[in-house]
Amino acid sequence: PLVLLLWAVVGYLLGSIPFGMILSKLMNLGDLRSIGSGNIGATNVLRTGNKKAAFATLILDGGKGAVAVLLARELAGDSAAQVAAFASFLGHCFPIYIGFKGGKGVATFIGIALAIAWPVGLLVCLTWLVVAVVTRYSSLSALAAATLAPFIAYFLGFGQMVLLFILLALVIYVRHKTNIERLLSGQESKIGNKG
Ligand code: G3P
Repeated sequence: PLVLLLWAVVGYLLGSIPFGMILSKLMNLGDLRSIGSGNIGATNVLRTGNKKAAFATLILDGGKGAVAVLLARELAGDSAAQVAAFASFLGHCFPIYIGFKGGKGVATFIGIALAIAWPVGLLVCLTWLVVAVVTRYSSLSALAAATLAPFIAYFLGFGQMVLLFILLALVIYVRHKTNIERLLSGQESKIGNKG
């Protein structure tokens, strides 16, 4: 119905805000497109050497997903929250404001997970952190967290969200195509490395 469409639009427009790009411009950190992976996310902002900007990008890119979910749930219920979640995530990946060339969705995915089902969100964060500490690969941590999320949702009793987490994982895989290629060929750069 119309109300779901409305929340899809609101979620998409919120998710489209490219905070990494905005912050790196405001703080004169250079053009993210010509740094590291060329991505607009927190991992690549960290490659500018500015940890505060990277952290702020993580929080804001996650926050916009969380805000979309919480607003939709508060004003229109659970189905609207799921629609807003996926729409904000697609907004981050394909943002209307910068020619649809967006990010890989990981921070937004984490913000969504925390807002829509916080126990799932916490375990998703834990998965990301454990893989990141062990391997130092941001992309591999994201792929692991995205893969486990539908199972975590199912086993924690959030069965109605499994499909959402499967869809999020599928888009995360597609957006990490070049990262997967680099991981397989041993060329992927580790967290904090400039490469
Ligand atoms: O959050 C995106 C991350 O998984 C990979 O980022 O810049 O290394 O491609 P990047």
